[in-house]
Amino acid sequence: MAAHNGAEIDSTSTAGGPDSILAHSLYFPISVESIQSAEIAFDLYIKHNRNIILYRSSGESHEIKPCAHLREQGITYFYVPIAQHSDFQRTMCEQMTNAFGNAAIGRDVRTDIVRGTCSRMIDDFMQNPSLPGIGDSLRSIASQFSEWCSRERAEFEYLLDMSEHDFYTTTHMVNVGIGCTLLGAEILGEDNELVQHLTLGGLIHDVGKCGVPAGVLNKEGKLTDDEWALIRDHPLIGAEVLQSQSGISDLEIDMTLNHHERLDGRGYPNGISGDQISFPARVCSIVDVYDALTSARPYRSAIPPRAVLVMMREDVGTAFDPNVFDAWECVVERMLDQDPERAIWDNGQIPENRLDAILPSINAQLAPGSGSVTIRCFNGMTAQGEIVAESIAEIVVRCCDPLQPGTRVTLSTDSGLNRPAQYISTRLGSKGESQMVFKLTQHN
Ligand SMILES: [Fe+2]
Repeated sequence: MAAHNGAEIDSTSTAGGPDSILAHSLYFPISVESIQSAEIAFDLYIKHNRNIILYRSSGESHEIKPCAHLREQGITYFYVPIAQHSDFQRTMCEQMTNAFGNAAIGRDVRTDIVRGTCSRMIDDFMQNPSLPGIGDSLRSIASQFSEWCSRERAEFEYLLDMSEHDFYTTTHMVNVGIGCTLLGAEILGEDNELVQHLTLGGLIHDVGKCGVPAGVLNKEGKLTDDEWALIRDHPLIGAEVLQSQSGISDLEIDMTLNHHERLDGRGYPNGISGDQISFPARVCSIVDVYDALTSARPYRSAIPPRAVLVMMREDVGTAFDPNVFDAWECVVERMLDQDPERAIWDNGQIPENRLDAILPSINAQLAPGSGSVTIRCFNGMTAQGEIVAESIAEIVVRCCDPLQPGTRVTLSTDSGLNRPAQYISTRLGSKGESQMVFKLTQHN
């Protein structure tokens, strides 16, 4: 191994993490698992004390197994010279293409390699959002995905993860990219050039989460107002990041900026409504919510695909475009019919602990412990309470202002959410407090 003379590393860098000075000067970090090919067309460096050291030269064979060994030693990132970035991205695309076309390996392995490679490239993008050329590279992936969808749709559909999976931002972005491809092809036809834009927009739609601390993204408890404001800003941050990337068009920026907007204007970040929300943003919004709900979170289990479709249908017309949703339902139902094994865990049931039954754009506002809620009756009476539980059938609010059973109310949060509901009964909580039980009802 030879020490590289040109780059001394900041001693204050986070142990094991990518170094910010490196990332913005001569090298960019990639996770050690990124490399799945034996032959690499770029140099790999590792960090050692205050120096950067050549680990493998371009053209040298790279064994994959030692990556685990490197991780054990606290080495989680390779560093690649920025000048070799295009070689790196080309290798990653080849790695993915070779896996998809390799009939000698099982479908599960192929799918893992394609999804894993794509996910790591997105991860690298989020680590280095200003890295030159990465937008072009992700556009190449989007082009490859839409070509696969056009040429081998049945096989491409298996890239959409319909298993009972956990939620991670990057794997979610891969799934949304694949889902947007399928939904776009369903509506527009596989060969429409807009499909490729929908794919790319889906793959990068949450890139703005690079500006939200992981502690906030993964927080299980109640978000503070400031934390919730940070989450609400991720579409704006994402759109800003993408402005400076080549290979990204206004269409993908629009999807990133507007994927949390709702037809009724109660979305974020700008609260636009109806015709102001473009077709690509409507596509992204549906696939985004679908994948978020079919993924497990620390505070609830994953919800099976068919149950998610039932839940989402409640918000068609208010949050989701009816025609786009119908098309997505066809895509999902057809995949489940063709191969029920793909989602064998789908028993059609909605889990009891469905804490975020209401759409993700308002999840944090109506989850237990998320703050006060105002109960508004149609006769003008109001009462304040606090949400303590939520399930498919009901929302329970700590409040001692019983109503006539059957009374129709609106549950309103400070942030402007209004949810129609019906008062059922009052019960005693574990500490003897009054808890009012409401059944959620359809929007008017
Ligand atoms: Fe998002």
